[in-house]
Amino acid sequence: MTAIQQPKGVLIVDLGTQYAQLIARRVREASVWCEIAPPRTALEKAKSMDLGGIILSGGPASVYAPDAPHIPVELLSLGVPVLGICYGMQWMSQTLGGEVKAADHREFGRASMLVEKPEGVFEGFDGRTVVWMSHGDQVVRLPQGFEVLASTDTCPYAAVRDTRRNYYAVQFHPEVSHSLRGSEILSNFLYKVCRFQGDWNPGSIVEREIARVREIVGSTGEVVLGLSGGVDSSVAALLVHKAIGARLHCIFVDNGLLRLGEREVVERTFREHFKIDLTTVDAGERFLTSLKGVTDPEQKRKLIGRDFVDVFREQAKRFTNAKYLGQGTLYPDVIESVAVHGGNTAVIKSHHNVGGLPKDLDMTLVEPLRELFKDEVRAIGRHMGLDPRIVDRQPFPGPGLAVRIVGEVTPERCLVLQKADHIVTSEIEKAGAHKGLWQYFAALLPVKSVGVMGDARTYESCCALRIVESSDGMTADWHYLDRELLARISNRIINEVRGINRVVLDISSKPPATIEWE
Ligand code: XMP
Repeated sequence: MTAIQQPKGVLIVDLGTQYAQLIARRVREASVWCEIAPPRTALEKAKSMDLGGIILSGGPASVYAPDAPHIPVELLSLGVPVLGICYGMQWMSQTLGGEVKAADHREFGRASMLVEKPEGVFEGFDGRTVVWMSHGDQVVRLPQGFEVLASTDTCPYAAVRDTRRNYYAVQFHPEVSHSLRGSEILSNFLYKVCRFQGDWNPGSIVEREIARVREIVGSTGEVVLGLSGGVDSSVAALLVHKAIGARLHCIFVDNGLLRLGEREVVERTFREHFKIDLTTVDAGERFLTSLKGVTDPEQKRKLIGRDFVDVFREQAKRFTNAKYLGQGTLYPDVIESVAVHGGNTAVIKSHHNVGGLPKDLDMTLVEPLRELFKDEVRAIGRHMGLDPRIVDRQPFPGPGLAVRIVGEVTPERCLVLQKADHIVTSEIEKAGAHKGLWQYFAALLPVKSVGVMGDARTYESCCALRIVESSDGMTADWHYLDRELLARISNRIINEVRGINRVVLDISSKPPATIEWE
């Protein structure tokens, strides 16, 4: 077996910050490959990479606290440039002989920083720039060999370096957009200090992943892949198909909880356009029968998860050599540090993901996207000619409309929601208002209210509009659409969808609410 070459890259050591993935996004946007590791496995990871630089992230601890993360000091002597950010800076300073103390005031927010030496990470800078600070401790004495590059009124060591060893350290957060020229600072670190070429792009990964799939599956193995019609499983299917052609078997489960027209788009795209072997399993009745009379949200999720597994298990038996299971798992799902933050997306997914398949299915996983972020997956999808209706589609939960039908899921209520949801999505998209939104959909509430249509009294259901902005689904803000667009959506739903006579707007952020209703 030939080892598949990794691109030269940066190691980001996640010291417990919520921003580690943001740093990774910024590095990859600068066309440089990177990986994230927690301190526990960072050294091992660094040695296994073709390493060109290290970034130590921020983190919530104090370097003096007993629960401060243990960072292997060898990371500083691997012969590559190191950039310490916030906690990363404090740890470097303390480890190399400087001193860190609690600052007189915690500093949180924008600060005006004076660049005293426009060199290294500040090449091309002149005078002042705005940066984002978020720290309680700060460095009060620099280790030997370090010099000041930039300062603020309250932070004399806002940015420092040791030229001989190629160490840089900044107290502010260049990765957040509030640091106005933060991306430039990171790019300077990558290009000017680490000397990366900036020649990595998501497309670079396609050929490598195709080779990797071939290596795993060999010349006779077959892969079964659960296609949901979402962007991840769709792009995974295309990559695996490129690698092994007809030995890929996709299974699309129509569980009766899909959006309007979803099944047709998936079938047309994969069967007709890409000529991929696709089996649609008509399981609507099975799922809806299981859900009959069930109103508890967790119970719904469990039943749906169980039915998915059963359908999949039955399907996998049809193929004699299908020892491999394809999945569209993404990088955020596999980074060890995700669990450290306890983001509830990680937890939620275990309910329904094919990853929850029983062990006795005895299949080897094939996950060609496990090193990519969602927007990189979208870029690959576009590059491979995938229908924009799939590439650009909003996230859709595994349990489908069931978690948006509050109360009992019946075929009738499902149809009512499909129609209302279709009006919401098509109107928003027609108006071009979907750009920048994370999700926009309708939820059906278990509430009936009195209305009047024509001269007659109505007593019908109520639907809620859920329109949110988010960068990763872990937190979200509700979004206020243009009043006329809202009015059009509401009018159309009430006029066209029999069974709904009232539309309300959900103006709850996450937390404390969640994006889905159940
Ligand atoms: P919540 O409702 O927890 O959702 O704020 C956060 C994001 O996750 C999606 N979601 C799911 N995705 N399987 C999924 O693949 C699920 O069971 C599931 N539940 C919620 C949700 O659409 C939102 O983008």
